[in-house]
Amino acid sequence: MRQIADLFDLSGKTAIVTGGYGTYGHTLSEALAEAGALVIIASRDVEKCRQEADKLADRGLKAAALPLDQGDEASIQNLIRTVAERYGHLDILVNNAVLRSAPQDIDNMTVSEWQKQQLVNSTGLAVICREAVQVMRKQKSGSIINISSIQGSVGPHFPVYGSTGMTSPAYYTYEKWGMVGLTKWMANRYGPDNIRVNCISPGGYNPSLTRDEANEFVQNYKKLTPMGRFAEEDDLKGPIVFLASDASKYVTGHNLLVDGGWTSW
Ligand SMILES: NC(=O)c1ccc[n+]([C@@H]2O[C@H](COP(=O)([O-])OP(=O)(O)OC[C@H]3O[C@@H](n4cnc5c(N)ncnc54)[C@H](OP(=O)(O)O)[C@@H]3O)[C@@H](O)[C@H]2O)c1
Repeated sequence: MRQIADLFDLSGKTAIVTGGYGTYGHTLSEALAEAGALVIIASRDVEKCRQEADKLADRGLKAAALPLDQGDEASIQNLIRTVAERYGHLDILVNNAVLRSAPQDIDNMTVSEWQKQQLVNSTGLAVICREAVQVMRKQKSGSIINISSIQGSVGPHFPVYGSTGMTSPAYYTYEKWGMVGLTKWMANRYGPDNIRVNCISPGGYNPSLTRDEANEFVQNYKKLTPMGRFAEEDDLKGPIVFLASDASKYVTGHNLLVDGGWTSW
């Protein structure tokens, strides 16, 4: 029987983290690299991706940067093709990138703004999954992890924002619920190809905002979270390595809530 450290070990694996230098993306990239994977950090600002990859490489970890515009089919195809050809395999895909445009209520949404959102967060998500599955099917293995949100399991609790003027757009809840559904569809469809598809649904993490103890939203959010706090920098590290590795090799179609209990009321 394999030992526990071996089950969590990602040595020899190639992973893509979309948006891998962002707020949560940084944690996800770092965790996979620390577990031994070669991590490809991909988004539109390839210079920022490179800086993130360099920081990991300076620590002796394996990381590289490639361009990705998830709103552009050719860019997505180019990323997956480049990884498959350059590194020989694609073992882990973390769909973490998110386009956030202006908050909109459903009663004043514009079609162009809605479509702009869907092009990246919905159509682009489906396209990158399509391209990755084609590679993983040939390998007969792969782990796809979609980063959804607490808003993929519940709707926004608008009173939490108090009088701050902050809010949450309709498209975000729509997209994040869709991500959980797509996870389950893909898990069922591609299970026979030994491709696992899971979801992580994190709670709030925004260090620059949550340091502001006087902010009404910050205060309300903590009160409404059973654990009384926002996510910390390393809270996604264990979950991502678990779902990426053989430690979860019989887990597929799962939505792992990492939210301090926000959704368990
Ligand atoms: N932070 C939270 O509180 C929180 C809570 C729950 C769930 N989440 C989820 O966690 C994930 C990461 O969120 P975050 O807060 O870390 O986001 P973030 O800091 O805003 O980062 C978003 C990332 O997505 C990339 N991106 C945006 N548009 C893109 C495009 N067209 N093509 C490729 N990459 C694109 C950005 O890079 P470029 O600009 O270089 O393209 C950036 O690296 C998201 O899926 C989000 O829904 C976050």
